[in-house]
Parts: sequence; structure tokens; C-alpha cells
Amino acid sequence: MLGNFSYCNPTKLYFGENSLDYLNTELLKYGNNIVLIYGGGSVKKNGIYDAVIEILKKSKKNIVEISGVMPNPTLKKLYEGIEIARNHHADLLLAVGGGSVCDYAKAVSVSVNCTEDPWEKYYLRFEEPDCEIIPVGCILTMAGTGSEMNSGAVITNQQTKQKIGHVFADEAIMPKFSILNPKYTLSLPYYQMVSGIYDIFNHICEQYFSGTDNNTSDYISEGLMKSLIHSSRIAIKDPNNYEARSNIMWIATWALNTLIAKGKSTDWMVHMLGQAVGGYTNATHGMTLAAVSLPYYKYIMPYGLDKFVRFATNVWDIKTDEKNKEEIALEGLKAMENWMKELGLVMNITELGANKDMIEDIADVTAIMPGGYKILDREEIINILKESL
Ligand code: NZQ
Ligand code: ZN
Repeated sequence: MLGNFSYCNPTKLYFGENSLDYLNTELLKYGNNIVLIYGGGSVKKNGIYDAVIEILKKSKKNIVEISGVMPNPTLKKLYEGIEIARNHHADLLLAVGGGSVCDYAKAVSVSVNCTEDPWEKYYLRFEEPDCEIIPVGCILTMAGTGSEMNSGAVITNQQTKQKIGHVFADEAIMPKFSILNPKYTLSLPYYQMVSGIYDIFNHICEQYFSGTDNNTSDYISEGLMKSLIHSSRIAIKDPNNYEARSNIMWIATWALNTLIAKGKSTDWMVHMLGQAVGGYTNATHGMTLAAVSLPYYKYIMPYGLDKFVRFATNVWDIKTDEKNKEEIALEGLKAMENWMKELGLVMNITELGANKDMIEDIADVTAIMPGGYKILDREEIINILKESL
């Protein structure tokens, strides 16, 4: 490992079937005014809402709710939540849901006491908060984003069709605690389950496909990828398999809680392409990544060939005998493609609502990241998007 870095992750995790039992212990640490934040209603159908409300009532908390946080939360919804949390003098924002709800809670947390427009400050100028932050706790219901243990918060401005993520530098913005009960993920529709699985896989790829040094982070990444492939194959046949879903939930957290980025420049171009597509289509996050991944990886493969050979052999067990590096690397990508098809992922952006007339506009809002094996220019982005149609 050749990098210099600091590492601190302050989020306390409670994991397993009984993890909600610890909510009360956490609640004791905060004041009485709780803002309960959730999505479009899944938590009411599967009973998680009732279980949380019971605990909040027993601890005599003063609760207001922000409901209806949509997948890919919007700026308009953020403004609404800021008002609610401000008027309630919130002591804790309790997010119950997937990455959208957790991200949204973090965005509210840095905005309640902010005197400027949060979109301008955090999402256009990428500044850090200079105001008091409201603590966030998460009760996670979907495995995928890693939002439960990181400082990322992605918001979509529907007017400008910009979907932008800010990964805040200050670890104070990470959730104070997260409750991870794999059972809560069992009610996810199949489409969301596999979308989350690919999101996890791609988070690992985005960090793995960068750098050329011998880095411990890459060995951890390979282990996480192998475990994810294994458990995903069980979960698609038997979605109620607790052990597989439990592994998937734990891998999601470690795939994006800063650990495997240590000492790495990290790529994130698949996410930039996927987010740009998401801004135009409002498609499910993991599917946007799946739809652009293969054209992107095939294009950059020659620039990071040795890493793609390592990916093929260490992650996909491709045999190397009498093959050249390109052949081995391509076989690795083919194995990844086969696995993606096994999961039933959406493999093109057309199916997600994009078309060739949108390509130039999507390219215009695709941020170019410098950390991967090739810094793309606009022309290359357009070509990759065309290949993804
Ligand atoms: O809204 P409800 O009714 O709750 O339904 C949700 C939603 O429709 C449903 N769902 C969640 N848990 C469920 C459930 N349905 C049944 N049973 C359950 N247990 O699933 C749908 C999708 O939920 P969402 O939270 O949108 O999914 P995800 O966790 O994939 O989050 C996506 C958002 O996170 C951002 C994405 O861009 C997107 O906005 N990301 C955040 C990151 C971060 N913080 O680091 C990184 C990621 O790369 C990603 O960009
Ligand atoms: Zn993602």
C-alpha cells in the first residue's frame, strides 16, 4: 500500500434479527424531538413502522413524520423536510428505509441550520457544512447503497435534471448509529433486491479498478465480491434465505463505508454515467449502473489490463493457461456479464427510458472523474452511452 490516509468511521452498527432491541439504548442519547423519516409506504405494509413507533412511544418521544421520501429523493422534497425538521427543533432524524431515505435524512441534517441554499452550497459548490448538524440514525430496510455507514447524500434536482451526490468529508455527517436487520430486507421486490446487489458489486469495482500498487484494499474487495456472487446466487433462487440476505446486507455496508477506498484513487465513472442517466429517467439506481457497466469496462480494459486479468482470475476463477492477457480479461468480463444476466438486471439504458436523442444532454451532465484507468473526454462518454442504448 503506497497511499497516505486517515481512517475513522464513527457509525455504531447493530446487526441481526434482534437489532431493533437496541434502538431504545440509542434514543436515550438524544433529546425528545424526533423526526421520523420514511418512504412511500413499504414500512407500513411490512410492520417495521409499527415496531419503531411502539419503541418511540414507550420512550415518550415527541415525534413528527416526514413520509413519502421517493426513490432518488428530490430537491423539492428536501426543502419540505428542512421546514418540518426546523419547526420541530429536531434532536434526532430517524431514517427508516433504503438508501434514499438515509441519504435524504443526511441532506436534511446538514441543511436545517444552514443559512444558504443547500443545493447551491452542497451540490453545486460542494462545500462542507459550517452550521450545527442534526444527528441521524438509520433503520435500514434495503441492502445496496452503504448509506447506513457513510457520509454520502444523493439529491435530484428535477428542474435541471441533475442527480448529484455529495460525499461529505466530515465523518460527523455519517449516521450516529444504524440498525441492520436482514429480515427487514425480505419484503423487497425482486427487482429492488437484484438492483441493490449490483449496486454493491459496482461500489466494490469502482474502488478496485484504480491504482497499480499491491494494496490490501484490493484483497478485501476480492473477498467481498466472491461472497456477494455466492450469496446472490442463493438469494435469486431462494429470496427468503436469511443467511444469504444477511451476508448481502453486511457486504453492502463494507462495500461503501470508506474502508476499501483506503490507499486507492478510486474510479466512480460508472456511477457518474449511471447518475446522469438517472437524472433523465428517474430509473432505479442499481439498474442505471448495470446498463452502462459493460460498455464502460470493455472500453477502459486496455488501460488497466493487469487489474482486469487479476479480476478475471481472483474473482471469477478464469483459467489462464495458454491465453494472452486480453483473452483472460475479456473472459472475466464475460463471466461478470453472465452473472448479471443470471440476476436479471437491466442491461441497457433504452429499457430504462433513455433514447439516442438524449445522449448529448446526458453526456453534458456526466461528471468526469480522474481516479480510474482512463480519464474520459466528452466524445468517449457519448460513445459509451451509445453502446449502452
Ligand atoms: O419508498 P418505499 O415504499 O419504502 O419503497 C422502497 C423504494 O420504492 C422500496 N423498499 C425499500 N425497502 C423495502 C422496500 N420495499 C419493500 N420492502 C422493503 N424492506 O425499494 C425502493 C427503492 O428504495 P431506495 O431507498 O430508493 O433504494 P436504494 O437503497 O437503492 O437507494 C437509492 C438511492 O441511494 C443513492 C442513489 O443514487 C439513490 O438516490 N445512493 C446513495 C449512496 C450513498 N449514500 O453513498 C451511494 C449509491 O451509489 C447511491 O448513489
Ligand atoms: Zn451506487
